[in-house]
Amino acid sequence: MNARAKSPHRCYDFGGCPVKPLRPAATDAGREGWGGEAGGARRPFFPRSWRGRPGRPRGGGYLRPYGRIVMLRDRHRFRRLAWGALAYTLLVILWGGYVRASGSGAGCGAHWPLCNGEVVPRSATAETLIELTHRVTSGLALPLVLVLLAWAFRAFPKGSPVRKGAAFVVAFMVLEAAVGAGLVLFEQVAYNASIGRAYWMASHLVNTFLLLGALTLTAHAARGGAMPRLRGSGRRGPLVGGALLGLLVLGASGAVTALGDTLALGGGLDPAEEPVVATLVGLRLYHPLLACLVVGLFAWAVYHVRRADPGGPAAFLGLVTLALMLVQLAVGLVNVQLRAPIPLQLVHLLVTDLIWIGAVLFAAEALGAGQYTRRPLRASTA
Ligand code: HEM
Repeated sequence: MNARAKSPHRCYDFGGCPVKPLRPAATDAGREGWGGEAGGARRPFFPRSWRGRPGRPRGGGYLRPYGRIVMLRDRHRFRRLAWGALAYTLLVILWGGYVRASGSGAGCGAHWPLCNGEVVPRSATAETLIELTHRVTSGLALPLVLVLLAWAFRAFPKGSPVRKGAAFVVAFMVLEAAVGAGLVLFEQVAYNASIGRAYWMASHLVNTFLLLGALTLTAHAARGGAMPRLRGSGRRGPLVGGALLGLLVLGASGAVTALGDTLALGGGLDPAEEPVVATLVGLRLYHPLLACLVVGLFAWAVYHVRRADPGGPAAFLGLVTLALMLVQLAVGLVNVQLRAPIPLQLVHLLVTDLIWIGAVLFAAEALGAGQYTRRPLRASTA
């Protein structure tokens, strides 16, 4: 076996490889890099390192081992960046929860992006510091995801789900910033008791979930994970999709419940005097009921997936997420018993986000089997 046969050309874009295996041409005319099209018009895709070192193959159309290393290193770093961005976003979300729970949303007044009309406020109260920290940390998340997008376009070929995922991440991040700015500019913060604020909170939570979902899928696709597809997924599709949708609605109902607690317990607003607070407090009963329903639906989806493939990654992820949900039910009960102290609210929010990430990964594996390969594709030797 010669050296070329020993090192078959593989597609390392696990999520986005074309169905036909790649086979770099041996001639200069058909020179092709990684992620190029097999057959037909050949478009070179030459990796370059961030430091501008060329990975461009010369002669023979082969990507030299050096170029290959640059490409793999780029993708390895991308994966780390994507998971890092997800972890950072989680921290920003938790701090956002603290801003809401501590009633500090008006710490910078109704000013945005300035804080109390200044870039750096001179007389800062505790609320101002809490709100300002949230603005700075969430502001840093935007350049972070822009780097992620640029890197995705650099390291993964056209049509790759990694590129699409990173584009969605940026879109949801911009939307998240817009909702945050809207909350401040329309004064839907601190102890403002209006029914419109309940809608703001629910939409904020839904967008946060979509952002986390996009980040999770981008990182998952970059390490070769399957992507969810409804088409051709049979009964699994509606079941798993319904469970995810149920989680979204449950999260939104939790955000409304949290608002009721902030106003009634944190702000001390009397439901007898404030009809909006009375409505929100009245709605609190439905959140735990909905939680039991959604956990039941999710358990059904996991059972269905496990029956078909008991030892698969989807079954494992489903069980882990289900266990987190059971923990969450207990945390929710203690939350109600202790009248929602702030640290417990943050624990409840963190577990919610972990459940959502687990559910997205479960859906990706349950609905994505057979769509993309987990292992590098071997080139045909024909
Ligand atoms: C899988 C199950 C559950 C999920 C995914 C969930 C999700 C959520 C979310 C997203 C929030 C808003 C957090 C925030 O914006 O800070 C919330 C709040 C809340 N939830 Fe749940 N919840 C679940 C189960 C429960 C249960 C079973 C109870 C009660 C028995 C409960 C009680 C509460 C309370 C009292 C709040 C308001 C205080 C706070 O923010 O922690 N939850 N929930």
